[in-house]
Amino acid sequence: MKRLIVNIGETVGIVPEGILRKQGEEMSQTGVMEDAWLRIEDGLIKDFGPMIDCPSPDGAEVFDAEGGMVMPAFCDSHTHIVYAGSREGEFLDKINGLSYEEIAARGGGILNSADLLHRTSEDDLYEQSMKRVREMMATGSGAIEIKSGYGLNPEDELKMLRVILRIRQSVPAVVRATFLGAHAVGRGYSHGEYVDTVVGMMPQAAELSDFVDVFCDEGFFTTEDTAHILKAGAACGLPAKIHANELAASGGVEVGVSNGALSVDHLERSGTAQIEVLRDTPTMPTMLPGSSFFLGIPFAPAKDYINAGLGIALASDYNPGSSPSGDMRFVMALGCIRMRLTPVQAFNAVTLNSAYAMGVAHLVGSIAPGKIANLIVTDPGWNLTKIPYHYRSPFIRAVILRGQTV
Ligand code: NIG
Ligand code: FE
Repeated sequence: MKRLIVNIGETVGIVPEGILRKQGEEMSQTGVMEDAWLRIEDGLIKDFGPMIDCPSPDGAEVFDAEGGMVMPAFCDSHTHIVYAGSREGEFLDKINGLSYEEIAARGGGILNSADLLHRTSEDDLYEQSMKRVREMMATGSGAIEIKSGYGLNPEDELKMLRVILRIRQSVPAVVRATFLGAHAVGRGYSHGEYVDTVVGMMPQAAELSDFVDVFCDEGFFTTEDTAHILKAGAACGLPAKIHANELAASGGVEVGVSNGALSVDHLERSGTAQIEVLRDTPTMPTMLPGSSFFLGIPFAPAKDYINAGLGIALASDYNPGSSPSGDMRFVMALGCIRMRLTPVQAFNAVTLNSAYAMGVAHLVGSIAPGKIANLIVTDPGWNLTKIPYHYRSPFIRAVILRGQTV
């Protein structure tokens, strides 16, 4: 199928071929073309250019953007959207003053979600999760990473990974799967037994996953556990993406970088030491402002990373315990309002850099011929600054994934 989008006020996010991430000052730049057209063929961006040279439709369906902006769909490189039910009870505990750690220590938190998931059938889990995926696509996400980690025993972890695969096969969004067996110690295991169980599951999990993850933080898994699990993942061909430095300076960044992690995520408790460890590495620092907002913990020092010459990605962390929203526009707004990123920096963080953090920057996250046509067309009058500024006003006219309006 062919489509020709005409009368685009501004095409934003044009990136030369071969550039897979932005770092330091590059984070403040993005390619823009005003008054433009864009042609889609077979689900891919075929070409684009100025309206003055607009080609004839030549059999393509014409979409008149009427001056609206076209940008790459959001890329969300860190989510836990396969879960059962929700945790409103804990929301009340939190309002009444309990911290994330205190809720977890009482057997709530991740273990609560694991119990619920255990009692939920695979079909039901798929339906509940698909509802969230549809909502994310409707709010503009075109690439989504999804983690396991609410199974916490071999049978239920594989159930989650099968559900992620089924989602991947049924939606136009690009989906990547991460095995997060080491999210918390499963019920009935000692800590050591559970780490051995995660390692033992790796060959089977690897058949259904793209990445391995560990919650390397105080009260969860140590740097030694993490190194052990990441090495087992690597032996099965899984690159690492890890949870690091959310609750404490856990050593997660260091163990992630030394194991070649594609991303280290959270980073609320990080600073100069971690920035130096990350410098000149392929690892993408990924920050999750939705969980800082929801938990009331510090926001990761995004500006310091960028000023030091590094790139950062932003993702939603959509999960029932610390970030019950997958709205990447809100993530972008928090990036600007609470982390003091400029709209262009936040935009690069939620598109190209987040695509990089899940290994799909060659496919999505920018506007370039040959990339998958995952696009947002805004209503007329919108620009990159207004999107996080008017952070609750509807701005999306169409979400186009693989060339089709969803
Ligand atoms: O990324 N930090 C660990 N895991 C999730 C929270 C999961 C949960 O509470 O259910 C996170 O914030
Ligand atoms: Fe997470």
